[in-house]
Amino acid sequence: MAKPQYHVFICTNQRPAGNPRGSCAERGSLEVWQKFADILNQTQMFEKVLISGVRSCLGPCQAGPIVVVYPDAVWYKMVTVNDVEEIFESHFKNGKPVERLILPDAMFG
Ligand code: FES
Repeated sequence: MAKPQYHVFICTNQRPAGNPRGSCAERGSLEVWQKFADILNQTQMFEKVLISGVRSCLGPCQAGPIVVVYPDAVWYKMVTVNDVEEIFESHFKNGKPVERLILPDAMFG
């Protein structure tokens, strides 16, 4: 396997129902993860993109589902299945992160 250009971490952490912090899984991140996997399979960009579901909380739960792309250190917020194709096209194919989805620094903590 070649070293991929982009490593994508998708928070799939799930907390029990009623937890005040909620969780990315509760907000649809498993479906988002599946959409990333589907598009990766369709595009065959395996040498460029590696996708990992992360079962541990990445931190800014209130803005989930959270998706993080390295080495760019781009944090995406509130990602839905409808955003994934644009992330592939703009970020992974053309090198331009999707600005409207970027998590503001103020939302950390
Ligand atoms: S549960 Fe996903 S960032 Fe905390």
